Amino acid sequence: MTDQFYALVPAAGFGARMGQEIPKQYMTLAGRPMIFHALATLCAHAEIRTVFVVLSPQDEYWHSFDWAQFGDKLQPLFCGGDTRAASVLNGLLASELQLDDWVLVHDAARPCLSMQQLSRLLNELRNDEVGGLLAVPVADTLKRADAMHRVAGTESRAGLWQAQTPQMFRTGLLVQALETAPNVTDDASAIEALGMSPKLVSSDSSNFKVTYPQDMLLAELLIGRKNN
Ligand code: CTP
Ligand code: MG
Repeated sequence: MTDQFYALVPAAGFGARMGQEIPKQYMTLAGRPMIFHALATLCAHAEIRTVFVVLSPQDEYWHSFDWAQFGDKLQPLFCGGDTRAASVLNGLLASELQLDDWVLVHDAARPCLSMQQLSRLLNELRNDEVGGLLAVPVADTLKRADAMHRVAGTESRAGLWQAQTPQMFRTGLLVQALETAPNVTDDASAIEALGMSPKLVSSDSSNFKVTYPQDMLLAELLIGRKNN
């Protein structure tokens, strides 16, 4: 087994729920395109050798920004697919990583990832048999809705966690998993479909996914704190 770590950032989505003309990963956040912030954290980690970014083959925005500060550590791949899972799988195949290299898959839309969260994931999983993901125990009380948006029942939140990224697995295992289960919304689900149990590594809500317009303000505030 190698002890090499790589990152892969799927960024070929359009951000339909954000409802803007520009894909959300390129919206301006704290003076930079949103994707810059996650790339900066991943590129700054000494143990991560290369950060691959999976972009749409039709991407018109990447080349309008200056990425020179990241040098060769940052590698764009214009091979995104129709779903997140397809973008990750295409990127893994294009990256030519070794089967036993670790890969940390991280959403471009989680700009507030901190170096502490990233290091914790890497350190808790580097000797793990399966791999795992950053996640947070559910804090709110959970309601099940009926068709009229009235409460049909209250669900127990005991043992429930919200999945975040990065999600860290051996490259060969993740390729096999995504080929077997292509209709998943995160990488861990594909590994679970193979009958394995990824490890949940405690994170916190600051590593949230920017999805709706109102999420931008909170992300700006958190990034301002991170950069100070
Ligand atoms: N993603 C991707 N390829 C796709 C769809 C999504 O690489 N075909 C990426 C997004 O760019 C994002 C990450 O997967 O960095 C998480 O997806 P999400 O937050 O859902 O982004 P979008 O799919 O772009 O947003 P929406 O679902 O609102 O359209
Ligand atoms: Mg999506």
